[in-house]
Amino acid sequence: MSAVTIPLDRSPGFGVYIHWPFCAAKCPYCDFNSHVRHQPVDQERFARAFETELKTMRGRTGPREVTSIFLGGGTPSLMKPETVGAVLEAVAKNWTVPAGIEVTLEANPSSVEAERFRGYRAAGVNRVSLGVQALNDKDLRFLGRLHNVQEALHAIGLARDIFPRLSFDLIYARPGQTAEAWEAELAQAIGYAVDHLSLYQLTIEEGTPFHALYAARKFTLPDNDDAADLYALTQEVTAGHGLPAYEISNHARPGAESRHNLTYWRYGEYVGVGPGAHGRFVENGRRTVTIAERMPETWANLVEAKGHGVTGGEILTRAEEADEFLLMGLRLAEGIDLQRYEALSGRGLSSARLSVLQEEGLVAPVGNARLRATTAGMIVLDAVVADLAR
Ligand SMILES: C[S@@+](CC[C@H](N)C(=O)[O-])C[C@H]1O[C@@H](n2cnc3c(N)ncnc32)[C@H](O)[C@@H]1O
Ligand code: SF4
Repeated sequence: MSAVTIPLDRSPGFGVYIHWPFCAAKCPYCDFNSHVRHQPVDQERFARAFETELKTMRGRTGPREVTSIFLGGGTPSLMKPETVGAVLEAVAKNWTVPAGIEVTLEANPSSVEAERFRGYRAAGVNRVSLGVQALNDKDLRFLGRLHNVQEALHAIGLARDIFPRLSFDLIYARPGQTAEAWEAELAQAIGYAVDHLSLYQLTIEEGTPFHALYAARKFTLPDNDDAADLYALTQEVTAGHGLPAYEISNHARPGAESRHNLTYWRYGEYVGVGPGAHGRFVENGRRTVTIAERMPETWANLVEAKGHGVTGGEILTRAEEADEFLLMGLRLAEGIDLQRYEALSGRGLSSARLSVLQEEGLVAPVGNARLRATTAGMIVLDAVVADLAR
C-alpha cells in the first residue's frame, strides 16, 4: 500500500447502527442476518420496536454526541421513507445529533426507486451504499442477484443525482475471473464511482448454498496466489485513480472515508439496534458488547416485552480489548497508535516479534508512533495479529 491517508479527525467516535433484517431474496453467498418474508413486513411495528430499543440503549450509554448513523442489512432500501424517518427521529430524540453528520443507507439496485430515494434524502440520509457486486450480467446471475447491469447503472445514476455521497460494493475473485477481466471491470467501476468503493473478495461462508456447491466442486475459485495477485492489482488500480485503500476492502478519495466504518476500525464506540445487531460501548467505565436476537419477529417480541432484544454480550477484559483494537486497527492503512495499544494492554508489542514481521515485509512503522500492515500483511492479517497478540 503506497499512499497512506490519515484523515484530520482521528477521534474514534460514537456511531449508531440500525439493522433492517429483510431481503427480497437470499443471495447464495450471504451469511448476514437477512430473512425473506412472503407476507408484507409490518414496518410500523418494527419502527416502534427500533424506537423502544434506541431508548433503552440511551439509558445505558447516557447522553452522547453521535458521529455517524448507518442503516444496514439485509436490505434497508426495502424500508419505507417514513420508517427511515421515524428511526432517524428516534436517534435524535435520545442523543445529540449534530447537523451534517454522515447518515448512510445500504441499498440494493433491484429495490431502487427515485421516489423512495428522494424520501430517504428528505428524511436525513446523505450517503448511500449500493450493492452492485458485478458489472456483467453473467456474474450477477451466478451471484444470485435480482438486478442486471443496466439496473445497477440506473441506480448509481439516481443515487448520484440525489445524495451528496455514494459508495458501491463489488465482489471479485469470482470463478474464472482473470486479472485482465477484473482490471477492466474495476476501471469501468471507477468511472462510475463518486468518492468511495468497497471491493470484497468472494468468501465462501459456512452454511450458505455456495458452501455446499463449492464443496461439491460445482465451481472453483482463484487459488490463494491468484487471489493475492487480484488483491494487489486492486490496490494498484484504485490508488492510481485517486481511490486508495484506507482499509483492507475499502477505498476512498482522501477525506471521503466512511466515518461510520472508521469508528469500527479505530475501535470507537457504537450502539447496535435491531435483530442480530452488535454494539460496543463504554458502560460503567468498561467496554461492553451487546448482541441482539437474530430472528426478526422474536426480536420484536422481546423488545415489546422488555424494552430490548439483547440476548448476548459480555464485558471485555483489558486484554480482550487490546486484541480487538489490534485486529480492527491493522485493517486500516493508517495503522494503529502504539501508545493506545500500550495503554489498553498494559504492555507494548514485543519488539522481537515486530522485527521478525518487519523483516518478512508484513508490517511497517508509520513514523515513530504508529504501525501498519503492508499489502502482503493485509492478505494474512489474522496470522499477523495472532502473532503480535501472543
Ligand atoms: C450486508 S451486505 C448488504 C448490502 C445489500 N443487501 C446488498 O447485498 O446489496 C454488504 C456487502 O457485503 C458483501 N458480501 C456479503 N457476503 C459476501 C461474501 N460471502 N463474500 C464477499 N462479499 C460479501 C457484498 O458486497 C454486500 O454488498
Ligand atoms: S441482498 Fe445483501 S443482505 Fe440480502 S441476502 Fe443478498 S447480500 Fe445478503
